[in-house]
Amino acid sequence: MNAIDLLKADHEHVKAILTQLSESTDRAIKKRTDLLAKLEMEVSIHTRLEEDILYPAFKQAGGKEVAEMYYEAKEEHRTVDSLVLPDLKATDPSQPEFAGRVKVVKELLEHHIQEEEKEMFPQARKLLGKAKLDTLGEKMETMKAQFKKELGNLAA
Ligand SMILES: [Fe+2]
Ligand SMILES: [Fe+2]
Repeated sequence: MNAIDLLKADHEHVKAILTQLSESTDRAIKKRTDLLAKLEMEVSIHTRLEEDILYPAFKQAGGKEVAEMYYEAKEEHRTVDSLVLPDLKATDPSQPEFAGRVKVVKELLEHHIQEEEKEMFPQARKLLGKAKLDTLGEKMETMKAQFKKELGNLAA
């Protein structure tokens, strides 16, 4: 699969989880906990695929011209992974504070996804070309299967 198509499919999945999470109520504690675990797994695998495979290729091909976009996107990853998601995980899912934090996570991720899809990915398509994106996509599929296996083993 083409690397960008694969990442876009992940985005749809993440957005669906965020919608379910934002529609859940303070009484749906188990549902919120399960959805949050799912979101964390999806986001962490997806971010690794981008930071280990697509982003370095993009930066190498685009040079100085894309450096700012590259660092901005990485900064958004860091905000979600090390600040916003850990805070949400530490929040009692039966409290309204949880819904407030979900809203912020949802806004941040939707903004980030939009920038990738509208700005970075079209430019990456031009810079890298179809053959290279197919090769990167194969790498991603292998890496994803491996991560899922590792995380599955941890959960078991
Ligand atoms: Fe990203
Ligand atoms: Fe992404």
